[in-house]
Amino acid sequence: MKIFLSGIQPSGALHLGNYFGAMQPAIELQSQGQAVYFIADYHALTSVSDPRLLRQYTFDVAAGFLACGLDPQKTILFRQSDVPQVHELAWLLSVVTPLGLLERAHSYKDKVAQGAEMNHGLFAYPVLMAADILLYHADAVPVGKDQKQHLEIARDIAHKFNDRYGTVFKIPEPLIRETTAIVPGIDGRKMSKSYHNTIELFAEPKALEKRIMGIPTDSTPVADPKPVDGSILAQLMQTIGTPAQSESFTARMRAGGCGYGDLKKELSAVTKEFLAPFQEKYRYYQAVPAEVEAILDDGAKRARAIALPVLHKARAATGLGHGN
Ligand code: TRP
Repeated sequence: MKIFLSGIQPSGALHLGNYFGAMQPAIELQSQGQAVYFIADYHALTSVSDPRLLRQYTFDVAAGFLACGLDPQKTILFRQSDVPQVHELAWLLSVVTPLGLLERAHSYKDKVAQGAEMNHGLFAYPVLMAADILLYHADAVPVGKDQKQHLEIARDIAHKFNDRYGTVFKIPEPLIRETTAIVPGIDGRKMSKSYHNTIELFAEPKALEKRIMGIPTDSTPVADPKPVDGSILAQLMQTIGTPAQSESFTARMRAGGCGYGDLKKELSAVTKEFLAPFQEKYRYYQAVPAEVEAILDDGAKRARAIALPVLHKARAATGLGHGN
């Protein structure tokens, strides 16, 4: 059975960009193989410094995945830090990772360019990510386009290790859906926490409506047809609504006679309707934290069952331990 592995950083409230870009495609895969998904709390330490917040985000991501349809019977869902052995593997990989490989990483170069205070964790981030992937013998890694280079680095590191010590690791394939639409944020740029332009999955209906009503629009008079191409409202409707909802929406835009205020009301009604079942399940999981913890504990057990033999093999290959 194919192993699909992915991680999501608990670094803020989940939003529509996370859902359509990562969560929905990942959840869809759970019936096509063994999905192994973890909440990358070690990675999030590079950006979240408040311990209470980190714990809260980690729980919320777990509850969010469950609310959006992840089936914990099928999928192994766990907290990255519940399998700390990943750091031992990260070290074994570190010694075969050329510095240049890490220096070329976009995520690192971007941080340097932004003048961020660099630390070793940010620099070594791709090595830990490679360890995440290789520890579980992942066949395919569903990720967004922004993670493509990290995947290439993981593949390079796997080759380097296998070349030096013999074949221990499977070379993982990236699974990047080219068709996944980039979800625009309320300012028209890609929806991203760092742009503060997100529409959160689990916001109160009032707050959702407020976000959507705040989307900037042009000054086309009410009576006139509204431009559909490049319209944030139309793009969001296409992503969130059914094909029929999206068609009738753009038809209204093209016909004229309907103001942006009304169009935004329609978009917010469709968004609320779309999110309602997820929100209901989210409230359920938020009310039973012990149930979520039990799911994560069980996930960690199943994750360890895959990971420990792989780690053992990697250790033995390097000459650590007594060799059996
Ligand atoms: N770096 C990924 C991101 O920011 C999260 C991540 C950590 C990950 N480890 C991973 C993704 C392993 C896929 C596989 O989105």
